[in-house]
Amino acid sequence: MTLYGIGLGPGTADLVTVRGRRILEAADVVYSPGRLSRSVAAEHVPEDRIGDLDFPMTRDEDELRRAWREAAEEMAPRAREGTAAFVTLGDPNVYSTFGHLRRTLSAFHADVDIEVVPGVSAVTAFTTALGVEIASGASLTLHEAARGAAPTGPDRMILFKVTDVPTTHEQLVDAGYDVVYGRRLCMEQGETVVTDDPRTLDERDYYTLAYAEKHDLDSEPATAAFEDAESERTAGIGPRVQTDGGARSGSGLCPGDGFRRETVSMERAEGEACGDEVPEGKPR
Ligand SMILES: C[S@@+](CC[C@H](N)C(=O)[O-])C[C@H]1O[C@@H](n2cnc3c(N)ncnc32)[C@H](O)[C@@H]1O
Repeated sequence: MTLYGIGLGPGTADLVTVRGRRILEAADVVYSPGRLSRSVAAEHVPEDRIGDLDFPMTRDEDELRRAWREAAEEMAPRAREGTAAFVTLGDPNVYSTFGHLRRTLSAFHADVDIEVVPGVSAVTAFTTALGVEIASGASLTLHEAARGAAPTGPDRMILFKVTDVPTTHEQLVDAGYDVVYGRRLCMEQGETVVTDDPRTLDERDYYTLAYAEKHDLDSEPATAAFEDAESERTAGIGPRVQTDGGARSGSGLCPGDGFRRETVSMERAEGEACGDEVPEGKPR
């Protein structure tokens, strides 16, 4: 009688939580809304227990509602018979398709229990991958920045869905921010890139985020005094962000396995399901 919403983490099989893995291994069926989440789930679940869902590439709300009703129609009986799971990258409650499923099930299949297993979100994984510390006393604001958007105001922001890096970058710099980007962090599919050079990211990739910090922040934790002065001088974005002023791929913590162009175009399904990512040439 339970449908589990399971967060798979940023995109590598060993960052799935122990609880998430245990439920995936025991579930009768595991639904995945996209190819990337499917490939991570497939490391823990035999292919014949993974169910695919079909979502239209549209931002039309009526069409999306129809698609979610159909998806819930498919999943609810499986959850009534046994244990069903729905996986998302990162955490199910952070900018995720899972919210649509939860609302649709609650409205039309209220007898199905829903349980969420949190995942390692890009909101937290970015700190390790980008070498950022959100120190005690600091604040961090979450924003979306799709299609060249550049929200400004807070001291520190993490920007999701940065699909037009050069346009977003120019506006953030004008507004007084230092910015570092992370692409395909801790993901098995595609190349991990961490850079503060927007020119290396002019090719669009949905799995890109940015960390933006105002230039003039002067808060320093007491132990910052221990840090090597030379590395502070050469850091690209203030004292606590480690970047080489350009691109590097496959950080030791979140290595990539080599860039495959077709991966980037194929693996947009989760963005498409959210209505975020519509392939070139398709109407929005
Ligand atoms: C629909 S949101 C999904 C967020 C996910 N639920 C989470 O908690 O991380 C997709 C956006 O998250 C960011 N993102 C998620 N995983 C990422 C990763 N491994 N590397 C870089 N960005 C990632 C990107 O900005 C992408 O456009």
